[in-house]
Amino acid sequence: MGNNTTQTSEENAEDYSPWDIKPGHFGSSSDNIHLFENFIDFEDLKVIQDFCPTINEWENGPESVYAEDGTCLYNAQYWNDRTCDYGILSRINPEICLILEKYILKMKYTIEDIFKVKVSHRNPVIARWFPGIEQKPHADKQLIDGRPNAFPDYDLNSLFYYNDDFVGGELYYPQHDIVVKPKPGLAVLHPGDIHYLHGVKMIESGERFTTPAFFTVIENHGAQ
Ligand SMILES: [Fe+2]
Repeated sequence: MGNNTTQTSEENAEDYSPWDIKPGHFGSSSDNIHLFENFIDFEDLKVIQDFCPTINEWENGPESVYAEDGTCLYNAQYWNDRTCDYGILSRINPEICLILEKYILKMKYTIEDIFKVKVSHRNPVIARWFPGIEQKPHADKQLIDGRPNAFPDYDLNSLFYYNDDFVGGELYYPQHDIVVKPKPGLAVLHPGDIHYLHGVKMIESGERFTTPAFFTVIENHGAQ
């Protein structure tokens, strides 16, 4: 056998995309934004509601991620002291972990049914939002200028809401004229690209608790 190993690394580099599911894959219709009221059962909601205000350990660990040109791809500082990650959660309250995992799986099956894909899921976390915090419109897997962020595989994403005893904190989709006032038990679902920018209005008073859940398409049976 001869040695037949001409490498084409330049060609491969040109073909490279950070996204397996490319931005725009799901189109740009508002129909891809889903709201599910009472997604969390009442009994489970009560347990989560009682637990959230008692959390006294919040993550301060991860480092921000920057592109070569210095662009911030993930701002860890923004989430410091307001994310109860899976490591903390599973240690301080395994029961809550099981409950949240149940609803992450429920959302996984919901996504698979709606979008005709198979998705992988991640461990549960709880985030808190307090007065003075807001989030500018952003996409979950892209920077606002279209470049990839640190999470290019966040293809379809969901948020669970547990409480409403706060002022402000509405979720809004500026391209779709949709404003969502969080309700206990509500879940929302949207694609992760820049056709689905979303932000959170400033929290004016009270504390707002959510679980963000990110899903990655591993098999795609839907129409392009
Ligand atoms: Fe987001």
